[in-house]
Amino acid sequence: MLILGIETSCDETGVALYDTARGLLPGATPRAGLVAHALHSQVALHDEYGGVVPELASRDHIRRLLPLTRAVMARGGARVVDLSGIAYTQGPGLAGALLVGASVAVSLALGLGVPAIGIHHLEGHLLSPLLAQNPPAFPFIALLVSGGHTQLMRVSKIGEYILLGETQDDAAGEAFDKTAKLLGLGYPGGAALAALAESGRPGRFRFPRPMIASGDLDFSFSGLKTSVATLCARHVLDDSLRADVAHAFEEAVVDVLVAKSTAAMKHTGLARLVVAGGVGANRKLRASLERQAASAGFAVHYPPLEFCTDNGAMIALAGALRLSAEFRNHPSGALRLSAEFRNHPSDTLRPTAEARATASKMKLQPGFESGPKVPADHGFSVRPRWELSAIDIPQD
Ligand code: KG4
Ligand code: ZN
Repeated sequence: MLILGIETSCDETGVALYDTARGLLPGATPRAGLVAHALHSQVALHDEYGGVVPELASRDHIRRLLPLTRAVMARGGARVVDLSGIAYTQGPGLAGALLVGASVAVSLALGLGVPAIGIHHLEGHLLSPLLAQNPPAFPFIALLVSGGHTQLMRVSKIGEYILLGETQDDAAGEAFDKTAKLLGLGYPGGAALAALAESGRPGRFRFPRPMIASGDLDFSFSGLKTSVATLCARHVLDDSLRADVAHAFEEAVVDVLVAKSTAAMKHTGLARLVVAGGVGANRKLRASLERQAASAGFAVHYPPLEFCTDNGAMIALAGALRLSAEFRNHPSGALRLSAEFRNHPSDTLRPTAEARATASKMKLQPGFESGPKVPADHGFSVRPRWELSAIDIPQD
């Protein structure tokens, strides 16, 4: 089966083509199925505004998605009629941006008479380490550290995810971005802050390690950003101070992430930790986790660097795994999936009764953007609603 994957949840347009005959057969690594992929980053577009402007993001996805899709198909030597299914990021993300990917995926699928499947963005990140040359076997603990989420999950198999802990406020990536902003770095500032931290002097400043001794697997990063703001207000922000603050900030975040990940490994007794999401690209985090893993006796796996941040490959892979399981388990799967997908966009975009009530209290027009929450069944801590039977994928 040839599956097209589309990611448009935020500020990156990602498209990829996945061939299950190459990647999911016994003896193959999932990576082998990745036929072609392409990514367009909107970072330059949003840079002058200091953050993502949702309307600009949606419009850029509209501009980029079809040319990128054509390029990926051409690179993979395939035609759209060769597609067996289309996977797209259903959420969470910016409503308008998601709609672009969903509309293209669903209309193309309808036109071709193949299933379209909505993929949870975080499931894409969770499974992205399977795209490494040496993929982790199940079960594993996943540390998901992106711009919007910080979670520890127990992953038993595809579709079986248990949330062990998560941030109570800002995500780790968000804390990096906000701190980078305080230090006058661009957007998104995570990588720039990490680069600056390398020239910082250790020991000049020390920030708190929030919730490090809370006895659970939850996180909190918003106070850290406030500590940085307070310190910056008291000092002249010259280059050496910026670097020293960046160093101390990075150290604090890394210490907490490593401590909580180690606690999760101990608590569950599992042998493999997987790190996914944009902050997983952080060199200090990687080095520190490697040291910890060596002394505590567990293995750490990462996605290839290019698939740490948002991309189409992880969505194509997740779609390929789910669709191939569906086809295998239900010979009439295509019909079931297209019937199921009809409910998806409206389910996702229709505000829940709770959102409606809150919106009316706040005198907002009820809708996806004004509703304070996506529907409960869309939350990742709840079992994903597209749960299909769990499947085994080959490991080498
Ligand atoms: O996974 P991702 O692309 O986006 C979400 O799904 O949210 O992650 C983006 C986040 C941003 O907050 C970015 O600043 C952060 O990952 N990031 C980093 C590094 N590279 C990207 N944070 C720390 N160190 C890095 N090297
Ligand atoms: Zn992401």
